[in-house]
Amino acid sequence: MYDIHCHLPFDISDGPSGRSESVEMLRIAAEAGVTGINAVAHFGNYLRELQDRIEVLRPEAEALGITLHAGFEYDFSDLAECGDDPRLVTVSDCSRYVLIDFCSSNLPYFAGMKFYQLAGRGYRFIIVHPEVLFTRHDLKQLSELQRQNAVIQLNASSFLPESAPAVRNLAHDLIRCGLAQAVASDAHRATGRRRNALPEARAAVSRRHGTEVAELLFDLNPQRLWENLHPLELPVPPLSRWQKWRLGL
Ligand SMILES: [Fe+2]
Repeated sequence: MYDIHCHLPFDISDGPSGRSESVEMLRIAAEAGVTGINAVAHFGNYLRELQDRIEVLRPEAEALGITLHAGFEYDFSDLAECGDDPRLVTVSDCSRYVLIDFCSSNLPYFAGMKFYQLAGRGYRFIIVHPEVLFTRHDLKQLSELQRQNAVIQLNASSFLPESAPAVRNLAHDLIRCGLAQAVASDAHRATGRRRNALPEARAAVSRRHGTEVAELLFDLNPQRLWENLHPLELPVPPLSRWQKWRLGL
């Protein structure tokens, strides 16, 4: 299993404090069946430091059977600052997919235009945890971005019983309408609310949507993104007219 979004690097951005917590996160990931991690920090002028942290963690990761990649999670506004020909850090060495956080409850109307422009440079975009930022009133705009090849990634922690009901419900709605394409941990800590909740999330998704959907969201599609392949569509039943109306689609 590939975790395409995990804040594993220690003492950088808002990741874990100290190497020992990163190592504990690696152990937890291995126990969950993870074999590849896109180890990210929020974008900043510290790619070298980020790569150094990964080299420190690589021996332990390899001993646990985990491949590490040093990545960035970008704020959408970072893209504007990167100019027309940016060098973006992707989710794996061979992938052209880039993690994008809108960091706001507003989806900019020009997001599709920006994605289109950067697609000309070969980049594809993964919109991270929309269920945390938006409401079902934004589903139509999200589905338009998806039609333009943007990918939607949910956070494992959104499926936990302690997550806000609005977040949990939107995460399930995004699966029900076939918009969700992958789940990642977005873990920042070894324990607590920001831990790696992939096994619990997978159990919750399997119960509600079936094991085939869970396999696509947790295994197949994250691996496809890592390998620079577009995710497969979720095998979900078509929405009724009432469900479409309720979700604004
Ligand atoms: Fe993140």
